[in-house]
Parts: sequence; C-alpha cells; structure tokens
Amino acid sequence: MKKYKKGFTVGTFDLFHIGHLNLLRSAKEYCDYLIVGVHSDEWVKHCKNRPTVIPYEDRADIVAAIRYVDEVVKNETRSKMEAWEKYKFDVAFIGDDWKGTEVWNKIEKELNSVGCDVVYIPYTQGISTTELRIRLKDSQEKKEKK
Ligand code: CTP
Repeated sequence: MKKYKKGFTVGTFDLFHIGHLNLLRSAKEYCDYLIVGVHSDEWVKHCKNRPTVIPYEDRADIVAAIRYVDEVVKNETRSKMEAWEKYKFDVAFIGDDWKGTEVWNKIEKELNSVGCDVVYIPYTQGISTTELRIRLKDSQEKKEKK
C-alpha cells in the first residue's frame, strides 16, 4: 500500500525533459492518485516575464499522457492552499531544489496545519528548461556563425 492517497505537484513542464519525468515517477511512488497542476501561459508570462516555448494545451497534453499522472489541472496561482482547498490532497511534492527556501518553509507550515505533508523529491542535476533554452540558443548561434 502506498503512503498517501492523493498527491499534488505543480510546474510549467515546458520542453518536457528527464527531470520532469523523474519528478513525476517518484511522486507517484508515494500516492495512489497524482494530480499535476500545469501553469497556464499567462501565469508563466506573469511570473517569469517570458513566454513558454510550448503552449499550455500541448504541455498539459504531454503531462496527461505520462503514465504516472492521473489528472492534470490548470494552475494560475502561487498559493498551494488555494489548490489544497480545491483538491484536498494529503501530500504535495516539489523538487528538493526548493527545500529550505523561505517560500517552501512557509508553504510547508500552511499545508501541515491542514494535515497535508510535503515531500521533497531529489532534483535531477544537469537539466532544466532554462538549461535546454541555453543549449538551443548556443547551437543556433554556432549554426549562424558557420
Ligand atoms: N525538476 C526536477 N529536476 C529538474 C528540473 C525540474 O526535479 N532537473 C522539478 C522541479 O523542482 C519542479 C518540477 O520539476 O518540482 C517542475 O519544474 P519546472 O519549473 O516546470 O521545470 P524546470 O526545468 O525547473 O524549469 P525552469 O528552468 O524554467 O525553472
């Protein structure tokens, strides 16, 4: 039997990569039902001040097709409590790159107060959407120099 019934995690999942897959696979090992919040295009633009490479509908479709994912929901909030009010999950997952940060210490306290745990999943080193964007830009620049 798994430790939790309903789990929740959230992210942009732009240029879907192995770090995203590892996160979702590990999260599903802890819970029977995994809900994934995918940031809307507007929300990413608002938070990161840059557009996503892949539009929301495609990012959501890709995440929904991952066998570890049971449900995809659109996310347009920083508040995990708002998400908890909607979905009533008993565990939230996040990469351990966030562990010990002021933001997640606060979120952890709030979620714990309603009986929800936070599990930090080992971050996959050496890959991220940002890293992929840099690699693509570099290879494009090299091509243009030739
Ligand atoms: N994540 C991970 N390992 C990576 C990259 C991401 O475990 N190498 C986790 C993050 O901690 C988060 C989830 O995957 O829990 C979604 O992250 P997201 O922000 O969508 O992806 P990044 O690749 O981190 O994007 P960016 O570079 O734009 O920050």
